[in-house]
Amino acid sequence: MNQQYTYQSALATAEGIRWRVEDLVGGEKRLDFTKPFLPESLARVEPLSFLTAEEKRTLNQIRGNAYLGIFGLVEEFILPFVLDHARPKLRPDDYRTRALLQFASEEAKHIQLFKRFAEDFERGFGTRCAVIGPPEEIAKAVLAHDPLAVALVILHIEWMTQRHYIDSARDDNGLDPQFKSLLKHHWMEEAQHAKLDTLMVEALAEGRTPSEIEASVEEYLEIGGLIDGGLEQQVGLDLDAFTRATGRELNEAETNRFRQVQLQANRWTYLGSAMTHERVLATLERLGPKARKRVEDVAPAFC
Ligand SMILES: [Fe+2]
Ligand SMILES: [Fe+2]
Repeated sequence: MNQQYTYQSALATAEGIRWRVEDLVGGEKRLDFTKPFLPESLARVEPLSFLTAEEKRTLNQIRGNAYLGIFGLVEEFILPFVLDHARPKLRPDDYRTRALLQFASEEAKHIQLFKRFAEDFERGFGTRCAVIGPPEEIAKAVLAHDPLAVALVILHIEWMTQRHYIDSARDDNGLDPQFKSLLKHHWMEEAQHAKLDTLMVEALAEGRTPSEIEASVEEYLEIGGLIDGGLEQQVGLDLDAFTRATGRELNEAETNRFRQVQLQANRWTYLGSAMTHERVLATLERLGPKARKRVEDVAPAFC
């Protein structure tokens, strides 16, 4: 069992962090389209050496917009999942109830935050950029799985946001300050969610046999496969948006390279960065000896 995290301490930390959507976006606070939005470790536009600096920046921004949309849609299944997890046991642990409701409330705020940024993007960018969806359909498909598998996916997402900010964006001073602030403020709250989700995973795993745990890990990977299919589709949408935004027609070899590099960039952003995260792996290891190894074995394909 995890002795590190408690509902009480996660709640106390969460209550000390206070920001509103309005503090981050709106009014004078606008995206700066002269700057990149995503750190290069996630965007991976530099390997596309046939693009000009301006085209690379445009692609980076398109990826930033997709980030807003993809996070918006994963939060759509996290919110009901956390509420459903809280509901059957509202008593006797008041800290548990309050911490999980705070978690849900923050995810509802994040959904709105990502939407507001996406609206600002649409106004400023000038070309419509499509994002996979619709969110309700994806939420339905994900939530149809075993709750432990879904909790593992959510744990994966929470730690992934840490990677995105701490490892990639924090020390990058060339990024648009608005987008960087979104990554930072999102992570500040996700840090508590990651702890609460570890507790959720442990609660859901309790009493399961090793083979049941293995089956849940397989389902977690299946959901990963579903996300991977979506990412491949997103690369096509990004290529289309790029062509319309820049007027640049890529030849066949360039198109293939674009798709290959960008698919892997998306895989790292949304899959590999979490599947190799030490905290995700440590939680898997506590579930069973095979769980960690199984994820470690497939992770390199997404890095
Ligand atoms: Fe969130
Ligand atoms: Fe979260």
